[in-house]
Amino acid sequence: MTRKKTIGASVLAGALVITAAFGVTASQRAIFKDPVAPEMTPELNLGKLNYDAFCASCHGDTARGTDKGPTFISKIYHPGHHGDGAFFLAPKRGAKAHHWQFGDMPPVDGVNDQQLETILKYVRAVQQANGVF
Ligand code: HEC
Repeated sequence: MTRKKTIGASVLAGALVITAAFGVTASQRAIFKDPVAPEMTPELNLGKLNYDAFCASCHGDTARGTDKGPTFISKIYHPGHHGDGAFFLAPKRGAKAHHWQFGDMPPVDGVNDQQLETILKYVRAVQQANGVF
């Protein structure tokens, strides 16, 4: 009985190591619970409107993430790792699943560069309000 428990524990420990090596670690959760809203300006309000229309269905309210896509409040999406260009390219071309297990991001229909510019500003403001910078 004791022996069985020990084996169970080491299998579990092994699984945790594998998850840390290949998947998402505890510091890179796909969902960010209870994000703080940034201090809103007219420009950010516009960004939020566009974000809510085109991105929130997967990336979540206040970029918190959903079961269809990751939060942007993560070191992974810090500008040093995903530069501003990614926020124009991904909606145009889609993005292959590589950081998470949600599957590919499909191209987003009907969103233009001007709208993406406002979305980017909003997402950066959300990141800043939640300590990603
Ligand atoms: C249908 C769901 C869906 C919608 C809608 C969506 N995304 Fe995504 N997005 C994803 C998923 C899933 C990923 C994660 C892919 C991975 O790395 O595994 C992702 C990743 C990204 C990335 C990172 C790309 C990369 O190079 O790693 C950016 C940037 C992004 N999304 C921006 C946006 C923006 C901006 C919008 C709105 C205009 C948007 N997404 C709408 C599902 C979506």
